[in-house]
Amino acid sequence: MTRQNVHRVAKFGGVRNIGNPMPSVLILNGPNLNMLGQRQPDIYGHTTLSDIEAACTARAERLGLDLAFMQSNHEGVLIDAVHAAKGAQEALVINAGAYTHTSIALMDAVASVALPTVEVHLSNIHAREEFRHTSYLSKVALGQICGFGAQGYLMALDALAAKLGKRE
Ligand code: DQA
Repeated sequence: MTRQNVHRVAKFGGVRNIGNPMPSVLILNGPNLNMLGQRQPDIYGHTTLSDIEAACTARAERLGLDLAFMQSNHEGVLIDAVHAAKGAQEALVINAGAYTHTSIALMDAVASVALPTVEVHLSNIHAREEFRHTSYLSKVALGQICGFGAQGYLMALDALAAKLGKRE
């Protein structure tokens, strides 16, 4: 292992980084986000989930992050993905769609893996219907980014890169 690798393994905490010094982030998308581009474009825009993933991949290359992507319409599958991230990823970006407002189970999953998590929403949920103002995920996330469309995912990666870079 080079001197630089030793430093990065120490910094990003763990044997799992040997051979892959880049911290890995899971970008998790919940229900109906597979429909982006076709779904209510007046609210969510014309960008597809594949477009978002491509933009995230380009940003991650600049930031020195490794990315994994996952989308599901099923609450239990999202919970399993959060559990599986422990030991495999250093951080999470989650747009849980409507589960944001309903799922204590997903909130508990994020709390139980204790990975730094940024919550993202394309729309400004606070300017929409009352039922969208509550986010269970916000209670366990580092912070929430909403209202900036697809750009919000890139902002989340910037925030996590800064956070992971400062961790000792
Ligand atoms: C959303 C906002 C949620 O209220 C909604 O249920 C979604 C998308 C957003 O990205 O703006 O599915 O998470």
